[in-house]
Amino acid sequence: MVAAKSACALVLALLPTIASAQYNLVKQYQGSSFFDDWDFYNNFDNLTNGDAIFVSAQQASQDQLAFVNGAGNAIMKVDNTSQVAFNQKRNTIRISSKDRFAVGSVWVADMLHVPFGCSVWPAFWSQAPDWPTGGEIDTFEAVNQVTRNQMSLHTEPGCTVSNPVQSSTLQNSTDCSFQANNNEGCVVTNPSTNSYGAPFASAGGGMWVTEFAEKGVSIWFFSRADVPSSLQGNSSSLDTSTLGTPVGNFPSSSCSVDKFFEPQHLIFDITLCGAGNPATFTQTCTGVCYNDYVIGSPSNYDNAYFEVRSVNVFGTSQSVDIPVSSAASSVGARVGAVAMQLALLFGACLVTIL
Ligand SMILES: *[C@@H]1O[C@H](CO)[C@@H](O)[C@H](O)[C@H]1NC(C)=O
Ligand SMILES: *[C@@H]1O[C@H](CO)[C@@H](O)[C@H](O)[C@H]1NC(C)=O
Ligand SMILES: *[C@@H]1O[C@H](CO)[C@@H](O)[C@H](O)[C@H]1NC(C)=O
Ligand SMILES: *[C@@H]1O[C@H](CO)[C@@H](O)[C@H](O)[C@H]1NC(C)=O
Repeated sequence: MVAAKSACALVLALLPTIASAQYNLVKQYQGSSFFDDWDFYNNFDNLTNGDAIFVSAQQASQDQLAFVNGAGNAIMKVDNTSQVAFNQKRNTIRISSKDRFAVGSVWVADMLHVPFGCSVWPAFWSQAPDWPTGGEIDTFEAVNQVTRNQMSLHTEPGCTVSNPVQSSTLQNSTDCSFQANNNEGCVVTNPSTNSYGAPFASAGGGMWVTEFAEKGVSIWFFSRADVPSSLQGNSSSLDTSTLGTPVGNFPSSSCSVDKFFEPQHLIFDITLCGAGNPATFTQTCTGVCYNDYVIGSPSNYDNAYFEVRSVNVFGTSQSVDIPVSSAASSVGARVGAVAMQLALLFGACLVTIL
């Protein structure tokens, strides 16, 4: 009886620890089924005024703008074979996950190549449907020929960054409100030049881990040589406390995640020019974005592609039914079973104590 009680006390003591850092796989996007559970935008870029048309799933497949290559990796790219006529826009992609992932989720993206070059503005990010309500988390974003990835949040007014526990010292801005600084967001730049452009690819790519937790949003980046063993292979669980200090951190102390965020759709997109801002363009490129690139040589876009090995989403027992998903995957069912076991364990303890 005494032994049973102390075993239960141990289980109870461990539960909060488990909930804070230990996550189980809830969704995988990879291999031949990578594109199955995303919506293609199927409209011109009416979101950021880019000179881009985000094609339908059918056209993306037909024109090979989104496909799984021979190595089993997902390619998403800008059209680099068509000459675009004056006043027309260039075809590219924007996909949004059908599932939404709630607070208590982690998404892990393994990439080999990210789009880069003058006029190219790619991102891997997330948002709630009623932006800015429900917030936006930008894990990967860069433009033109900048040399580093930047991470940011965009929210309703009242969310700021203070005392982040992060390895980056390049904090560009700390007000996450969409109303501040022309909706620049609260931006932190990755000090590593392996986080973008040709150096990202020549280092073998890398992995981003985005933890969307009650205690805050944290983003880790690992260039291929630095990927920890816990992220290699195909593990069905993830303990973020083993990953070290994140490169970017947005603590809840000055931005309540529960208040400013709702379940997120994951998004990959590549727009062109956009940001509507010639000054941004001329920081790292010369000429005129639309004239010299979008309607210029299609080969301007030979590097404007994502090559993604996988996107894995992990959740805690609290966020088991987070995928606001049409279909419950077998993986989801398995995590549900784990949660059930925890609940049974917890219940069993109460019963034993009683
Ligand atoms: C963009 O176009 C789509 C499709 O026509 C439309 O549903 C959506 O409301 C538009 N969004 C904006 C911000 O104009
Ligand atoms: C952020 O700061 C870094 C380092 O000073 C700089 O390279 C980058 O251009 C800045 N980004 C923005 C959006 O201001
Ligand atoms: C990884 O594991 C999942 C099940 O957990 C499986 O569906 C998937 O095919 C595996 N992928 C690889 C590359 O082994
Ligand atoms: C277009 O880009 C791809 C890489 O995405 C490259 O393999 C190809 O050679 C480029 N050029 C043409 C004309 O397709």
